[in-house]
Amino acid sequence: MKPFFITTAIDYTNGAPHIGHAYEKVLADVIARYQRLKGGEVFYLTGVDQHGQKVQQSAEKEGVAPQEFVDQVTAKFRALWTKLDVQYDGWAATTEPSHKACVQTLLQRLFDEGQLYKAKQSGYYSVRQEQFLTEKERGADGEFGPEWGEVVLVEEENYYFKLAEHKDWLLGLLSQRPELVMPNFRLAELTNAVNKLEGDLCISRPKSRLTWGIELPFDPHYVTYVWFDALVNYISFAPGYDAAAGADLAEFHKWWPALHVIGKDIMIPAHGVYWPIMLKAIGFSDADIPTLLVHGWWNSSGEKMSKSLGNVVDPDALADKYGAEAVRYYLVADIATGKDSDFSEERLVQRYNVDLANSIGNLLNRTLNMAWKYRAGKVVPGGPLQEATEYWRIRTNTLVNDYAQSFEIRQPNAALEAIIGFATNCNAAIEKGAPWKLAKEDDPVSQRSLDGILYTLAECLRIIAILLSPVLPKAARGIWDQLGVAGEFRLVDGEWGGLKDGHQLGQPVPLFPRIEIPVNPQNPVNPV
Ligand code: MSP
Repeated sequence: MKPFFITTAIDYTNGAPHIGHAYEKVLADVIARYQRLKGGEVFYLTGVDQHGQKVQQSAEKEGVAPQEFVDQVTAKFRALWTKLDVQYDGWAATTEPSHKACVQTLLQRLFDEGQLYKAKQSGYYSVRQEQFLTEKERGADGEFGPEWGEVVLVEEENYYFKLAEHKDWLLGLLSQRPELVMPNFRLAELTNAVNKLEGDLCISRPKSRLTWGIELPFDPHYVTYVWFDALVNYISFAPGYDAAAGADLAEFHKWWPALHVIGKDIMIPAHGVYWPIMLKAIGFSDADIPTLLVHGWWNSSGEKMSKSLGNVVDPDALADKYGAEAVRYYLVADIATGKDSDFSEERLVQRYNVDLANSIGNLLNRTLNMAWKYRAGKVVPGGPLQEATEYWRIRTNTLVNDYAQSFEIRQPNAALEAIIGFATNCNAAIEKGAPWKLAKEDDPVSQRSLDGILYTLAECLRIIAILLSPVLPKAARGIWDQLGVAGEFRLVDGEWGGLKDGHQLGQPVPLFPRIEIPVNPQNPVNPV
């Protein structure tokens, strides 16, 4: 199996993390954990985007030096990822000297090779988006919309990267390898944007306007445009990459190309246009262009979350209130990868109570209680119940296959749906099999049927725990502890028959206590 390299966008450090940041990190974490479950080597890279005008302005507002400001905000991000059990292998922080050196080496190379040139430009510039605006960006009323923030007229000399000359190459690549964009409905959008591509990319900002960035190695009066700096994190922090020496590229190639998990707002132009062209320009082959997994947005009552609307959800407070696993579960269960979803605290509570407390927690509790009551906690495969056992063997096999297929297309929500559906079947089987009635019958057939039911339920729970582990690592461990099963979670152990004849189960402990906190819609988890 090829080692798996997964990255997320690196978050701006101009404010506290919000639920959108958390979703992306958890989504990538869940996919990374699934890959580990398959037995593959995984490297998960995430981090923070610490340069740029927004950061400089936020630091000024707080009256602290930019580095101090980003260090404080970065600490909040890291603490949140720890709290949410996001298990990353690499941390990209763009003020790191090694990253700066990498960006400068690449810039120098592009400059030496004539891929960068200096030119004068005058035009409208959006301070918020840190980019020059063209006529295309004007709304129907001829004005630049509020999404651009403050727009100022500037005239300045800058350095440009020859973007447009790679347009046909990129169009060709996207038509040959449509799988580079997931889900595939985003491809048309990207191809459209590339078709419209004209002009080159301004990759510098004069220091008179912005100092908080990486200095151009060939002109100390400028810093690098923040996106040119940020995108490079995917290689500067990748294992084995060395822009200067080209050293250890075998290690780099072991991992590369990456799967980039990003939000829909940053596919065009940054990740879908600039990034592949930048890689092409520094010598990456077509086979080494990374894949984009483009997720949708968490909205609030149908509206975009924004600080000014005061509807931004704080994932840290949410995790304190409901627990990290409840938050992880909600964030991957209640959105289809690629689509948008509306955030609702009521929904979080409801899904936790219905799917986890009622369905899985209840199944575990009933199974263990009955096994202790009737068999002193020991399970034995029921002898004459070959047919029933065969049914459950096939049923779990189908579950594991459906689950894996959903993960392969990066839809963990569908994988979870399959697990919950299965747990519901198991609960229904208890009602149908009525072990409490069998327990009262003295004949050997009833007694062996009871054995069969108890074994089947415990075995189903053993497999459910394996499958839940990428999303709920702690709860999955809790299920195994109660079943008296130890060891690493591995997908291959999702095969029927893992529990041995006479296996001793552990004691039942409530795993998903119902959340009884009333949610007051007037006072949701405090906006950031
Ligand atoms: N710093 C750039 C990314 C550079 S990557 C080389 C950036 N940062 S961001 O903090 O604004 O956004 C980080 C990620 O969070 C993006 O992928 C973005 O789509 C995602 N989200 C931000 N708000 C979101 C929601 N409300 N919902 C889901 N994800 C959203 O862009």
